[in-house]
Amino acid sequence: MMPSNSSFVMRLAEVARDIEATLTSLLSDEARSGEIARPLRLMAAMRHAVLAGGKRLRPFLTIETARMLGVEGKGPRFAGSGIELLHCYSLVHDDLPSMDDDDLRRGRPTVHKAFDEATAILVGDALQTLAFEILASLETDPDPAIRSALVLGLARASGLGGMVGGQLLDLAAEGRYGAANLSEAEIRRLQMMKTGAILTFSVEAGAILGRADDGARQSLTAYGRALGAAFQVADDILDRESSTEALGKRTGKDQEKGKATLVDHLGLEGARRECARLVAEANDALAPFGAPADVLREAVRFVVERQV
Ligand code: IPE
Ligand code: IPE
Ligand code: MG
Ligand code: MG
Ligand code: MG
Repeated sequence: MMPSNSSFVMRLAEVARDIEATLTSLLSDEARSGEIARPLRLMAAMRHAVLAGGKRLRPFLTIETARMLGVEGKGPRFAGSGIELLHCYSLVHDDLPSMDDDDLRRGRPTVHKAFDEATAILVGDALQTLAFEILASLETDPDPAIRSALVLGLARASGLGGMVGGQLLDLAAEGRYGAANLSEAEIRRLQMMKTGAILTFSVEAGAILGRADDGARQSLTAYGRALGAAFQVADDILDRESSTEALGKRTGKDQEKGKATLVDHLGLEGARRECARLVAEANDALAPFGAPADVLREAVRFVVERQV
């Protein structure tokens, strides 16, 4: 039986609490082993970027995928925290004046508004390197082959052929670098890179920690891809339909900037149908796992029904 939506929301909140506790300890003013010192201003700005707010969906996917495969505890919590640090870096840089130029994130001033632009750039840089340090650390997994698979996966998902490349294509889709008449296929690829790659990797990280065999790994990757695609279509619908108060970030920005999204190509109704199609695709990919995958089925439903 599918767990009820309220039990899913409670589970998501429980994981978010655990992740916040881990992130809080990783971002304390105390230097970690191997560091020379932690500048207090940088730490305050990093905590501003990471703590308080955020659905913590990526760590949730890592933790629940690993749990389905029988691995729980500190390892998945650490890996998930590393991925969340990388996600937070991407948000800090995404909001910069030279990128989306946003002043509100998770209901609070963006890092460059609360601090300054140079600090925000450094916060992103520091969150990124800390993310990789966490994935490479012994607490994440005792097996060095597992740790190196996690580091390799995050590098590929977040780098030039993934999130960073997607962010470049996303800016180009505003017409900054010449006319941008993106086809539907080009928008799908852009979204797969800027958002989908890290969400897919969040699921794959759980599969790596859970020692999934090749077949299970492929099914979970297919699930992650469909979920990632659905996530960005839902984000674009919310940008069009929701309010700044409800979302905690400014809305209407995509249209204001003339950014090509799937909502332009498909219309709002078409975009909603596309979300439903992607949910079905994600669920199909989970067929081999039976009832233990119910929480992942709920997760993809949450992604398209969410109001924040
Ligand atoms: C927002 O991600 C950025 C995108 C990839 C569209 P989330 O909606 O997961 O943001 P938080 O972490 O919950 O704030
Ligand atoms: C951001 O996409 C994706 C990344 C941060 C990689 P958006 O620019 O649509 O995200 P929001 O709407 O500002 O959260
Ligand atoms: Mg952006
Ligand atoms: Mg943005
Ligand atoms: Mg958006």
